[in-house]
Amino acid sequence: MSGLLPTLYKLILVSCIFLPDGYDLDHIFDLGKSATMTFVVTDNCIKCKYTDCVAVCPVDAFFEGPNFLAISPTLCIDCALCETECPADAIFPDDSLPKGQEGFIELNAELAEIWPNINQVKAPPSDAQEWNGVPDKLTLLETQ
Ligand code: SF4
Ligand code: F3S
Repeated sequence: MSGLLPTLYKLILVSCIFLPDGYDLDHIFDLGKSATMTFVVTDNCIKCKYTDCVAVCPVDAFFEGPNFLAISPTLCIDCALCETECPADAIFPDDSLPKGQEGFIELNAELAEIWPNINQVKAPPSDAQEWNGVPDKLTLLETQ
């Protein structure tokens, strides 16, 4: 990905020469920035793990642990389809995380490297609804 970014910005600069009058340059640079974004699974997924999110991901970017899913930042193409699918509202863009959830960026990246891929919806834990909305579940995260 790091080699792609300089190329992307060169393409943007070259394309600017041919821009029609009035074209929104901010929009173009926003597109460039989004190439480095990812979506992130956060605290409320823990012990809920509904897995609705995996059904819509076009690039199979989800990885499964015992009681949480993680998104691979190298696979995620920032399409946002999963964000609204999650019944626990646990998925956010990495630049709009709720306060206190910032550590989940690194956690998603690390866990996606060691957990198996998941691309099929499965039944949630029988007590998922009881855990939906319970704050600060990070100490309950099982990594293996
Ligand atoms: Fe998959 Fe899109 Fe969600 Fe990224 S934002 S994990 S590509 S569904
Ligand atoms: Fe977790 Fe929501 Fe997916 S609870 S498994 S992020 S649907």
